Amino acid sequence: FGSEALRGLKVVVSAGPTYEDIDPVRFIGNRSSGRMGFAVAEAAAQAGAAVTLVAGPVTLATPAGVAHRIDVRSAAEMHVAVLAAAAQADIYVGAAAVGDYRPSAVAPQKLKKHGGAGLTLELAENPDILASLSAQTVHPFLVGFAAETHDVASYAQDKLQRKGLDMIAANQVGDGLGFEAADNALNLYWAGGSVELPRASKTELAHQLVAQVAQRYKAVRQ
Ligand code: PMT
Repeated sequence: FGSEALRGLKVVVSAGPTYEDIDPVRFIGNRSSGRMGFAVAEAAAQAGAAVTLVAGPVTLATPAGVAHRIDVRSAAEMHVAVLAAAAQADIYVGAAAVGDYRPSAVAPQKLKKHGGAGLTLELAENPDILASLSAQTVHPFLVGFAAETHDVASYAQDKLQRKGLDMIAANQVGDGLGFEAADNALNLYWAGGSVELPRASKTELAHQLVAQVAQRYKAVRQ
């Protein structure tokens, strides 16, 4: 792993969950801790890149060497922050677990119970950050993640094509891997190739992922 692999390149990394507010005290979130994305940001900085980290609500310190950090809460905020940062970027790595849906309306006051009547929340679909980027004529080299509980390979390859990505990192969720855990295991896919990165710490995997991204970037963009 060469520490110069991304020298001179601008890399944007998204990490963590998004919180979609229901009312002033409640939200819909997910179990992403941000660890995977923060490790990728740190590894990219160590490889010489100028890194902007767009972070959802997490409790992690900014990794050493990361030049800019933008904290966001919702998928809509992450969408705006990533699109702005990606306009000047060479590579975007989407490690965030972006909420697919948000409540159609945020209640201005705390919702109250109504005598056992139940509650139905209406949800609206959030914009897809990766798909928005790949729809632009000029866009960064795009690396997506796919977290799946089953049929990991086929869902990942489908997302690679459907979202117009250059590479996708698929992780199987569960069994002490994926969300929240210190370890992960990744299968990388790109048009015409794949590589398996077996179980290791997220720090170690991030270095291996960055090395692969640098190699593919150079093959198709330089
Ligand atoms: O944060 P950790 O606790 O360390 O956990 C790491 C992780 C499991 C969250 C991470 O490795 C991971 O897999 N992140 C993607 C999670 C996911 O569920 O992705 P998805 O299948 O919903 O989305 C696929 C890709 O599209 C992702 O790159 C995602 O960032 C992107 N996406 C999704 C929805 C959306 N509206 N916009 C997007 O850009």
